[in-house]
Amino acid sequence: TYVVTDACIRCKYMDCVEVCPVDCFYEGENMLVINPNECIDCGVCEPECPAEAILPDTESGLEKWLELNRTYSEQWPNITQKGDAPADADAHKGESDKFDKYFS
Ligand code: SF4
Ligand code: F3S
Repeated sequence: TYVVTDACIRCKYMDCVEVCPVDCFYEGENMLVINPNECIDCGVCEPECPAEAILPDTESGLEKWLELNRTYSEQWPNITQKGDAPADADAHKGESDKFDKYFS
């Protein structure tokens, strides 16, 4: 599966939503997550994210994010259409430790 990571928080550009063939993104207030049970590993969302927030879970050190994607995709609503990114999305692009700062 692919997972959404820290870089998405407060960026939430949603370009990923447009390209996913199985509509497996779920929307929280500050970020999206992928449902790992629904993702078919096609990989098309990865290069679409301007924040480079989407990674394959085969990369090391992503256990925490895989778990977070799994947990919240069961709680947050499904999103199938791209909305507007936050007005200050660009200001948060590339910022470090966004989970600790903003995730509630
Ligand atoms: Fe959707 Fe493919 Fe991205 Fe998985 S890898 S979330 S199926 S676009
Ligand atoms: Fe987040 Fe990137 Fe999608 S910032 S909403 S993973 S396009």
